[in-house]
Amino acid sequence: MTSETLRKQYAEDIPLAELEADPYPIFRRLQAEKPLAWVENLGMWLATRYEDVVHVLKHPELFTAETEPSFLADVLGVSMLTLEGEEARRIKRAMQPPFTAGGRAKGFVRDELAAIAHARVDEFIADGAVELMTRYAEPVSTASLKRVLGLDHISTQKMWDLCQGVCAGLANFEGNPELDAVYQAAKAELEEILRAKIAEVRSAPDESAISYYVEPGRGLSDQEIINNVRLMISGGINEPRDGIGMVVYAYLTHLQGSRPANPDRAFWLKFINEVLRLYSPVGTAARMTTQATTLAGVELPKGEFIAGCLSAANRDPGFWTDPDEFIIDRTQKDHVAFSQGQHRCLGLWLGLNEILVGASVLLERIPQLRLDDSQPLKISGFEFRGPKTLHLAW
Ligand code: HEM
Repeated sequence: MTSETLRKQYAEDIPLAELEADPYPIFRRLQAEKPLAWVENLGMWLATRYEDVVHVLKHPELFTAETEPSFLADVLGVSMLTLEGEEARRIKRAMQPPFTAGGRAKGFVRDELAAIAHARVDEFIADGAVELMTRYAEPVSTASLKRVLGLDHISTQKMWDLCQGVCAGLANFEGNPELDAVYQAAKAELEEILRAKIAEVRSAPDESAISYYVEPGRGLSDQEIINNVRLMISGGINEPRDGIGMVVYAYLTHLQGSRPANPDRAFWLKFINEVLRLYSPVGTAARMTTQATTLAGVELPKGEFIAGCLSAANRDPGFWTDPDEFIIDRTQKDHVAFSQGQHRCLGLWLGLNEILVGASVLLERIPQLRLDDSQPLKISGFEFRGPKTLHLAW
């Protein structure tokens, strides 16, 4: 069967606006009726069952992140997320350590993260109300990545602007010239900042991740460092920001009347992981078939684009008991909000800690915190889902 005939047979007409607003009823229908569907609007097959999504993520020999063409590589340059095999492993091995509990991130989380969060709370605590995403979640997340990378000489606002500029390129599927100009300017400025930092730490090493990357034993070229740091900036700021917002939202809505008196780290990790399952910030992991293979009973030819839908898998009734319920003591734990397999999130440890410290500092400082019902709550997004605004009062 030709690819075109196959796509027609499994086609689902899903308006993108519906996916953006509330994808969960759509996922439930697809899981029951068409667990692998061709979605013309996405230009991809959408896999929604947990078992199939994990199969895609764990079999790079069948479903590769090294797609051809690769929009991600065209925009950000070749990075660990657009490679497979030994090259992907080499770069990740060299670049992950500063982001783990054994690296630079450890000292940052232990000694500095809470102070960043407290300083932001100080700015609005007297006001009695705040829009949390812009005043708190965004700067805490941005300042964290900036500090771990070692980009201390640029402001948090500048780092955020660079992140948004790079993301403008990633969202520019239609080649809009205005978005492209924003992206090109951010890309050029970031490249200059990173080249200067690389030169600086080569002659005067410091404790930063970038300084770690330039050490001769790492085997990374300057361009590899730049491309992969650009990837981190595009993905490592928005997700913890959305995570902080969703965790605060979930704490205020799902835990009324059952809040622990002294939530400890173990409580927060359980709580945060259930929030990330129920409200996954990243929608899909994109892959391409390397050969003819079967997924969800569909015989796919080589070269088909597949979106393994992480947010759908995290609510698959075939895997989770009461998938739409918030159940903090779940026995099944293997959510895929950070993906699985080779491309499992490099910044997972730091991201979880940003959310933990970000949410807990805020809730400790303002115990009377509540949702401000007089303001609209906007949670939306398919590829990237989170609160667009989160108005709180006390
Ligand atoms: C709550 C926070 C976060 C979430 C939910 C998240 C989610 C994800 C997901 C789903 C992937 C895999 C995509 C795929 O398989 O195609 C990924 C990969 C990645 N993430 Fe995160 N992320 C978070 C925080 C961070 C942070 C703080 C960084 C900082 C550097 C980061 C850097 C990366 C990188 C570099 C990759 C590519 C890994 C590879 O290809 O091997 N992420 N992330």
